[in-house]
This record gives sequence, C-alpha cells and structure tokens, in this order.
Amino acid sequence: MKTSSLATLAAVLAAASMTVSTAAQAQDAKAGSTKVAMCIGCHNIPGYQSSFPEIYKVPKIAGQNAKYIVASLNAYKKGERKHPSMRGIATTLNEQDIADVAAWYEQLGKGAAAPATVGEPPADIAKLLAKANCESCHGKNFSTPIDPTYPKLAGQHADYLYVALKAYQTDHNPHVGRSNAIMMGMARPYTHAEIKAMAKYLASLPGELKTVELSEFR
Ligand code: HEC
Ligand code: HEC
Repeated sequence: MKTSSLATLAAVLAAASMTVSTAAQAQDAKAGSTKVAMCIGCHNIPGYQSSFPEIYKVPKIAGQNAKYIVASLNAYKKGERKHPSMRGIATTLNEQDIADVAAWYEQLGKGAAAPATVGEPPADIAKLLAKANCESCHGKNFSTPIDPTYPKLAGQHADYLYVALKAYQTDHNPHVGRSNAIMMGMARPYTHAEIKAMAKYLASLPGELKTVELSEFR
C-alpha cells in the first residue's frame, strides 16, 4: 500500500495548498480509477459490513448520481455527516479527487435504467411514505430524484437505509448523526419501527445501485 499512502499524502498536500474554487470541477472517471484504491476494500466487496454505530452493509455507490456522491463526500469532509471512518477518508480527498471518484462510481454502475413505475406499496408503507411525501424528492420509483444532488434509494441495502435515516434523527453525538436540514425534518417524525419498514420497502425495489466486485484488485 506504499503507493496509495503516497498518493494520499500528495492529495492532502494538494488540498492544503489549493485555493478553493467555486467553479464546478470537471469530472474525470478515468482519473478516478486511479484514486479509488482506498475505497474498493469496502465499497466493491458485495455484502461488506461496517460495525459502527451498529452492524450494517456499506452503501452501494456504483450507479449513484455523481453529484450526490460529491455532496455526500463534502458532507463527511465538513463534519455534517459524522461517521468517523468516512470523515477520515473524505478529508484526504481534494475537490478534484472527489469529482473524479464520483464520476468513476457513477459510470461503474451504468446499466439498465430502473423501471419508471414500481407499483403500489402495501397500504401501511404507502401511508408512511405519504406522510413526508418522500417520492416528491426521491422520485416516483425512488431512482429518479428531482435534483442530482439527492440520492437514489431504490435497491439500496435496507440495513444501511435504516442507519442513515436514524442518523438524521441524531443530535449532540460527536460520532453519530447527519445534520442535513431537509432530511432532519423528514426523518424526525418517524419511530424506529416505521423507519425500518420504509427502509425494507425501498431496498426491495428494482433500482440502479450496485456493488461491483473488482476481482483484479484482490
Ligand atoms: C472502511 C470502509 C470504507 C472505506 C475504505 C470507504 N468507505 Fe465510503 N462508506 C463506508 C461506510 C460504512 C459508509 C456509511 C457511513 C454512514 O453511515 O454515513 C460509507 C459512505 C459513503 C458514501 C455515502 C453513500 C450514501 O449513499 O450516502 C460515499 C459517497 C462513500 N462512502 C464514498 C467512498 C469513497 C469515494 C471512498 C474512497 C475514497 C470510500 N467511500 C471509502 C465505508 C467505507
Ligand atoms: C424535500 C426533499 C426530500 C424529501 C421530501 C425526502 N428526502 Fe430524503 N433526502 C433528501 C436529500 C436532499 C438527501 C441528502 C441529504 C444528505 O446530504 O445527507 C436525502 C437523503 C435521504 C437518505 C439517505 C440516503 C443515503 O444514501 O445515505 C434517505 C434514506 C432518505 N433521504 C429517505 C427519505 C425518506 C424515507 C423520505 C420520506 C420519509 C424522504 N427521504 C423524504 C431530500 C428529501
């Protein structure tokens, strides 16, 4: 792992000396392929689990919107998302690295588009989803969010969705929580049992998210 730690060091130095540019960074999936060495050990192993703050599968990010990947990595970097290991990783990435790895993961999942409609959910779930009008932002099929910085949810791991939704309900904990204002408002009115039921439903939907195994790296 010598080259990868040197690459990380170079990235840290570059980030430190970089003047923050507001212009959108050109995304380069090819450059990203050389920068994901430290990601694939978790995000490219099907079923790989995290043990903090509880045991759950690491999120599928192949096929996710690049702009959402950028937004979420910046949220870890700024501490708006507190998950300690993802914070540690995100702080080693500069703006260009983030744009490149995001482009790489988006194209890694390219495949058939999710079906435009997914049928009616069971009545109890439909009621829960209607309460906060989840599909108004995440899309009718939960794969076509109204803004590319919002996540696709269909087919994501249920246990991850559960942990993520609970994080939006968590305040005043230095290591757990997400402070996105929109989702804090959306998640708070629900009980853990209700969140779990919604997470299970969203995970069961056909979607575009994947964990792509990269056997050549192992
Ligand atoms: C040690 C395992 C591990 C490594 C290495 C790792 N991740 Fe993660 N990643 C996680 C876990 C666990 C989460 C969920 C954290 C949470 O609950 O917020 C996550 C979350 C994410 C998310 C947010 C996904 C979403 O749906 O909101 C993105 C994007 C991401 N990681 C990208 C990366 C990239 C890019 C790299 C490499 C530069 C990387 N990760 C390296 C374990 C890892
Ligand atoms: C007003 C728009 C809006 C509505 C309504 C909304 N969301 Fe979200 N959702 C977002 C945004 C924006 C994010 C990204 C937040 C962040 O950066 O952490 C998000 C993130 C999420 C995540 C985290 C996904 C991941 O990969 O980490 C989950 C899960 C989620 N929403 C589920 C729901 C559910 C369930 C509902 C209904 C109860 C809902 N959302 C309603 C905008 C919305």
